[in-house]
Amino acid sequence: MEFFGKALNIVKQSSQCLVVGVYQGKKPKLTVSASQLDEASGKQLSKILAQGDMSGAEGSSLMIYDPLNIKARRILLVGLGGDRKTSSESMRKAASLAAKTLNARNIASADFLLLDAITDSELLTRQARNIVEAVDETVYLYQETKSGRKEKNALSKVNLVTDRKRLSAVKAGVVRGVAVSNGISYTKTLSNLPGNICTPSYLARQAKALQKSHGIKTTVLDEAQMKKLKMGSLLSVSRGSREPAKFIIMEHKGGKKSEKPVVLVGKGLTFDAGGISIKPAGAMDEMKYDMCGGASVFGTMIAVSEMNLPLNVVGIVPSSENLPDGAANKPGDIVTSMAGLTIEILNTDAEGRLILCDALTYAERYKPSAVVDIATLTGACIIALGHHASGLFSNNDKLAKELLKAGDSSGDRAWQLPMWDDYSKQLKSNFADLANIGGRSAGSVTAACFLKHFTESYDWAHLDVAGTAWKSAGPKGATGRPVPLLVEFLLGRC
Ligand code: BES
Ligand code: MN
Ligand code: ZN
Repeated sequence: MEFFGKALNIVKQSSQCLVVGVYQGKKPKLTVSASQLDEASGKQLSKILAQGDMSGAEGSSLMIYDPLNIKARRILLVGLGGDRKTSSESMRKAASLAAKTLNARNIASADFLLLDAITDSELLTRQARNIVEAVDETVYLYQETKSGRKEKNALSKVNLVTDRKRLSAVKAGVVRGVAVSNGISYTKTLSNLPGNICTPSYLARQAKALQKSHGIKTTVLDEAQMKKLKMGSLLSVSRGSREPAKFIIMEHKGGKKSEKPVVLVGKGLTFDAGGISIKPAGAMDEMKYDMCGGASVFGTMIAVSEMNLPLNVVGIVPSSENLPDGAANKPGDIVTSMAGLTIEILNTDAEGRLILCDALTYAERYKPSAVVDIATLTGACIIALGHHASGLFSNNDKLAKELLKAGDSSGDRAWQLPMWDDYSKQLKSNFADLANIGGRSAGSVTAACFLKHFTESYDWAHLDVAGTAWKSAGPKGATGRPVPLLVEFLLGRC
């Protein structure tokens, strides 16, 4: 998909299709662009709308062919809803509906005239970005592991049309939208790959490839190096697997040398069978998605480097499988983490925290301005928040607010849950410093409390994306979340 910001004469421009907004009302109301086209066509649009085929509600649309006195071949009217101050969400819905319609009708290129009522340049940039992200999201195709002829989208080019005065703000939004979309698509594809292809070594190779394609400095530690660092907790998980663990570090150095980096840590469990505490068979295939947190770190690094953000960002992805095996962790085993804390493994299926804790300790060496970890950590988070919001936990309220705001404005929401000391008691062990599970109640909170023990030296937040990183149906697939939230958060720090 290609996107461009363009200043065009919308009446005289030859175009496969002009995409134009209509507001909902007692009678549908025309936007500025729609009125211009209406005038030029001798009120053709208002006459058609007067027949009542389209309300202007979100989700409504109408294709008009061969409009009168207008050079374009088609006009696609899309509903923006009743509120003339179109929200980000309404804009995304309208753009997505347009993309779906154009694609289904084999239309290769289109000119979107959805930005005409906006004068504020920041809002213009935001809405341009929303359009790009929504269109790209709608036409995403996964075909890595299908044989036969590759599917192709008909729609391949979208112009975001504006006037000269506002062109630079629109173009800025297009650049951001494209960068974020590339990050999201990359994250989705990496996440959708099956566990037999997407192994820790595969992830490590992808990280290396980003060094070439994106100039991201990549370092991969192998198990011997992790052993030297005393990452006993992480290594205990990978011992039960034939695939060696990899510890992936990606660095974007966009800021001053002296500037402290933001560190993102993503859980890269390429398949989670549960280990000896094995999971039930139903839907176990979805545990290939247990590396979605890690994949979102890859995608965010891509977006950050494509936007050339003036910021230092470090991405860390500890990667392993979790399988049952003669060498695997057994319930009751005690391991020593890199931080020196001993951990009693009461359930081998609570492995995410076991690999993350060593990565969080490793993150200390960057003297980070903040650390955010992203993990498909607990099924309990889906029970608490469903599939709409990621769970947010933090040891710093300011950081939590920053992330919540980034989630709101990118439409990739998170919701904060408490981490009071009362919960930490659930992690007491008779035989080690810490148990790796805290019982059935508040499972997401106790998982976060576990991680908190390893993050005392910096500002830290944890995003539990178990409910948001992929969809089990309709259609099944990775969502690319929380790349939009993370990019928004980083943009806010520039
Ligand atoms: N990767 C899972 C969490 C998960 C499960 C995410 C289902 C999305 C859907 C994690 O490693 C896990 O197994 N967690 C356990 C923790 C429990 C043993 C305390 C869980 O949630 O059941
Ligand atoms: Mn597990
Ligand atoms: Zn897991």
